[in-house]
Amino acid sequence: MMRKKIVAGNWKMNMSPAKAVALIGTLKDKINVTDVDVVVCPPYVALPAVLEAVKGTNIQVGAQNMYFEESGAYTGEIAPDMLVELGVKYVIIGHSERRQYFAETDVTVNKKVKKAIEHKLVPILCVGESLEEREQGITIDLVRLQTKVALKDVAAEDAKGVVIAYEPIWAIGTGRTATSAQAEEVCKAIREVVAEIYSQEVADAVRVQYGGSVNGANANELFNMGNIDGGLVGGASLKEEFVSIVNY
Ligand code: PGA
Repeated sequence: MMRKKIVAGNWKMNMSPAKAVALIGTLKDKINVTDVDVVVCPPYVALPAVLEAVKGTNIQVGAQNMYFEESGAYTGEIAPDMLVELGVKYVIIGHSERRQYFAETDVTVNKKVKKAIEHKLVPILCVGESLEEREQGITIDLVRLQTKVALKDVAAEDAKGVVIAYEPIWAIGTGRTATSAQAEEVCKAIREVVAEIYSQEVADAVRVQYGGSVNGANANELFNMGNIDGGLVGGASLKEEFVSIVNY
């Protein structure tokens, strides 16, 4: 089963609209791979400018979050339809920073995953353990649980289109990348739990990314592991280095 690789840049709270357009200008002519889905996820306010700037390229655009209601009195939140109207195709759901600083839980993550699917947005569902959890030896248990709850009541056909990003929290922004063996072990376990919930067919279709200090030097080894279908990239997606990650 050949899964198309997917490399997504999570710009986090960086890049104003003007800076975002400048970055796309730097990247776009150098990114010409067609066998990899390339996605950038700017802050909400830069989405319109970035969507305009990527026209005619094969860079796709995602949001970093969205709310799970359609509209209403949710000050500061963004609804799925608003993203769809702009032309956004992907949405990161349940990033560890959202879980840590903005009180997202496996239950709200599940609501968002279902809502994204309902609106035909591709969820990039983030799971991963803290250092304390890894040292306790509960990484696989925890990631299995996060995956199961996030996919609760998601139909098999829809689950095939979900992208799952395994992001060990201790590797995010720390320069301490998981080894390819560590990343592969957990990405494989994620695929196994998807097979248990649904079927081998669904598990073979789901794309599982690794994220956490991915850079131009380690992308090739990571993305060539059997169960790693690309990466979710933070810091290194804010610079030209993103090109060498995409062209791993
Ligand atoms: P990092 O972030 O590449 O800066 O470690 C990854 C992420 O949080 O998605």
